[in-house]
Amino acid sequence: MKNEKKKILFGEFVTGAGLVRALEMGPGKVVAEVKASNLKGRGGAGFPTGLKWELTAKQESDEKFIICNADEGEPGTFKDRLLLMEQAEKVLEGMAIAGFAIGARQGFIYLRGEYVYLKKSLEDAIASMINRRFLGQNINKTDFSFEVEVRLGAGAYVCGEEFALISSMNGYRGEPRNKPPYPSEVGFRDKPTVVNNVETLCYVPYIVTKGAEWFKEHGTQASTGTKLFSVSGDVKHPGVYELELGITVNQLLAEVGGEGAKSVQVGGASGLNVAEKDFDKSICFEGLPPGGSIMVFNHQRDMLHVLKNFMEFFVEESCGQCTPCREGNYRLLEGVRMLEKGECSVRYLKELEALCDVMKDSSKCGLGQTAPNAFLSIVENFKTEILYR
Ligand SMILES: Cc1cc2nc3c(=O)[nH]c(=O)nc-3n(C[C@H](O)[C@H](O)[C@H](O)COP(=O)(O)O)c2cc1C
Ligand code: SF4
Repeated sequence: MKNEKKKILFGEFVTGAGLVRALEMGPGKVVAEVKASNLKGRGGAGFPTGLKWELTAKQESDEKFIICNADEGEPGTFKDRLLLMEQAEKVLEGMAIAGFAIGARQGFIYLRGEYVYLKKSLEDAIASMINRRFLGQNINKTDFSFEVEVRLGAGAYVCGEEFALISSMNGYRGEPRNKPPYPSEVGFRDKPTVVNNVETLCYVPYIVTKGAEWFKEHGTQASTGTKLFSVSGDVKHPGVYELELGITVNQLLAEVGGEGAKSVQVGGASGLNVAEKDFDKSICFEGLPPGGSIMVFNHQRDMLHVLKNFMEFFVEESCGQCTPCREGNYRLLEGVRMLEKGECSVRYLKELEALCDVMKDSSKCGLGQTAPNAFLSIVENFKTEILYR
């Protein structure tokens, strides 16, 4: 990784330039360029964006859809909100390019219920893009037409999971389902659908105009590009930072004024707790999980209290469909309460750790599969502190 500070999303941008370029290139070349850039989804799972588009483009269907996942509900994450507030045209342009690439004529922004106050400004941005012929009928006087509508969620974290999101948009309970089939085959209204994170879509106009090779100059070989981090907790300068993937925890802490931290929660509640001994590790897809949320804890923080907060969140947000997640999260929270009272033996703690492995292996969706991460990493890093209080 190069050391100089590079920025993409907070850099120069000309609305429409990426879309006009994409229309000249044609759908196949757009997919190939995004594939070559090695852009990976910024919504958490890190699936290659170009490949997702290619799989959906290949499907024969009279209708296809683009959904921008703006359900942003991971504790400590607020970077998509900033993009939606300040860079809505970039999000919309990314959606239009994605639509052109896969053969969709309609897109939706699935907006987190609590972000209802952004609906009006997003609709204004859509209207402004239509006026300039970057959205709507016959975009830039070509035969490509693409419309975007905003749909509101109702406050459930699990609806950010793409199957639950699609189920909610289809008018059913927002619950995950078994896969396959994937949304690229059976998505919104049972038609091929691409679901992409807000941030992922924002990189697309740049990749199309500046090229895959330019994008790959940022980040590491396996984790190309920059990443937005929502930084909160015991730091001098909380906020949204655009940093190169591959940055170490130490470098990030220096950037945000968080030196001397006791631990850092990387990747949100479902990510990993990182202790001081591992602050030299890199945040990237091949290292510490690069989900958008970074929570910094200083030496005054009680890590059992931090863990309790996370477990209460997962118990509240589990949709309850499958037993390992519904019961498992409850048992882990119960274990934390026992630890608080000094009633949890070392042996029982080991049993809870084994339960975490079962949850990871057998939960139906990412919520149950990742909920044990905070438990396992905090117990590993701070066993003495939490057992002998
Ligand atoms: C419980 C849960 C919540 C999620 N919430 C979000 C979210 O708020 N925003 C998001 O983009 N992805 C979220 N995801 C990931 C999505 O399922 C999906 O992988 C992502 O939207 C794909 O976009 P990407 O390829 O651009 O990352 C969530 C996953 C899980 C399991
Ligand atoms: S893992 Fe949890 S959130 Fe996901 S389907 Fe099962 S119960 Fe629902």
